[in-house]
Amino acid sequence: MHASIENLLNDQIKYEAMASMQYLAMASWADAEGYGGIANFFYSQSEEEREHMLKLVKFMNERGGKVNIPSLEEPKDDFDSLNSLFQKFLSSEEFVTGKINTIIDECLKQKDYNTNNFMQWYVTEQLEEEATARTLLDKLNIIGDDKSGYYLFDRDIESFIQEHER
Ligand code: FEO
Repeated sequence: MHASIENLLNDQIKYEAMASMQYLAMASWADAEGYGGIANFFYSQSEEEREHMLKLVKFMNERGGKVNIPSLEEPKDDFDSLNSLFQKFLSSEEFVTGKINTIIDECLKQKDYNTNNFMQWYVTEQLEEEATARTLLDKLNIIGDDKSGYYLFDRDIESFIQEHER
């Protein structure tokens, strides 16, 4: 494995781990605020990001790369509204998408078609996650400041996502 690819994949392990911890902090915030549906959504997003991290660790080991398990900064754990919570979700996904694109650029430069092929799964995943974040933010923008709207959003978040993914 080329050193530049190895470094970028190690960075990506950190970004996926950061996303996992960020969504865990967001789930816990929502749980404490009484939004059980939103909490479940972010608990499961947190699990998914951990899976994304593990997939990279295993791929690197299969390819004989040297894996570094990183230390992480503390995630943001205080939000002034549901809107800012979901803005954080979208900005986190956009950040990860940018990093994945950087890896793909480097794979093409180094002619590492195997890693490029592996990374295509992440490209598809990012498209879906960004679309989910935008759909949920659109719903929140329609709700505006309406408290009963928040109640319904929390109750229906799982079905919004299933509808979106259908
Ligand atoms: Fe695995 Fe959504 O970044």
